[in-house]
Amino acid sequence: MRFVLPKGRLLRGSLEVLQRAGIELRPPGERRLVERVGNHEVLLARAFDVPVYVEYGVDVGITGSDVVEERGSDVLVPLELPFGKCRLSLAMPNENRVDPEDMDGYRVATKYPNVTGRFFEKLDVEVDILRLSGSIELAPKVGIADAIVDIVETGTTLRANGLVEVARVMDVSALLLVNRIAQKTKFEEINGLVLGIKEAIENGS
Ligand code: PRP
Repeated sequence: MRFVLPKGRLLRGSLEVLQRAGIELRPPGERRLVERVGNHEVLLARAFDVPVYVEYGVDVGITGSDVVEERGSDVLVPLELPFGKCRLSLAMPNENRVDPEDMDGYRVATKYPNVTGRFFEKLDVEVDILRLSGSIELAPKVGIADAIVDIVETGTTLRANGLVEVARVMDVSALLLVNRIAQKTKFEEINGLVLGIKEAIENGS
C-alpha cells in the first residue's frame, strides 16, 4: 500500500498508530520525500496537501479534520484517530472583542477561508476573509485584520499575542483517509488496516 503522512506535529502520532496496528513504517529521511518499507511506500507531504494526494490516488493518508473540512476532498474517512486533538477557533484582541454576530464588515485572517466563510454564512454575517499561510496571530497584532480563525491547542500562542477565543468553529482530530478506488481494489488490505487500528485504539495499546 502507499501511505501519505503529514510532516510536522501529526507525524509521530501517525507512525505510532500504524505501528500499533502492525504496520511498521519508517518516514523518509533528510530531504527525501518517499521511502519504501517492505511492500509499502511512505510519502511525506504538508498536512494541508494530504487529502489531495489521497483523492488523486494514494491509498491511505492521515491528516487533521480541519484540513479535510477546508479542502473538501472526495475521500473516505473510515476512522477518527486518538491524537491531534485541538480546535479551530475565532479569536481577537481582548480589548476589541465582539460577538461573531456583530462582526459585519470585519476582516478575518486565516489559513481556512472555506471553513471560515461557511461559519460566518451560517450566522448571516458578512466578513472580509484574508488568506494567510501561517503565523496568523501576527495579522491582528499589526492591524491588518480584526480577528483570526486558527488552530488552538494549548492557547499559549493566543495568550502570547494578546488574543482571546470568542467562538469555537470546530473540534479537530486526526483522521484516517482512504482513496475511494483503493477501498475497492485493495479491499482486504485496507479493511485489515482499519480493523487493526480500531482494535489498537479500543485496547488503548
Ligand atoms: C499552530 C496554530 C497556532 C498554534 C496553536 O501553529 O496555527 O499558531 O499552533 O498552538 P497553541 O494553542 O498550543 O499555542 P503552527 O506551529 O502549526 O504553525 P503556523 O503558525 O505556521 O500555522
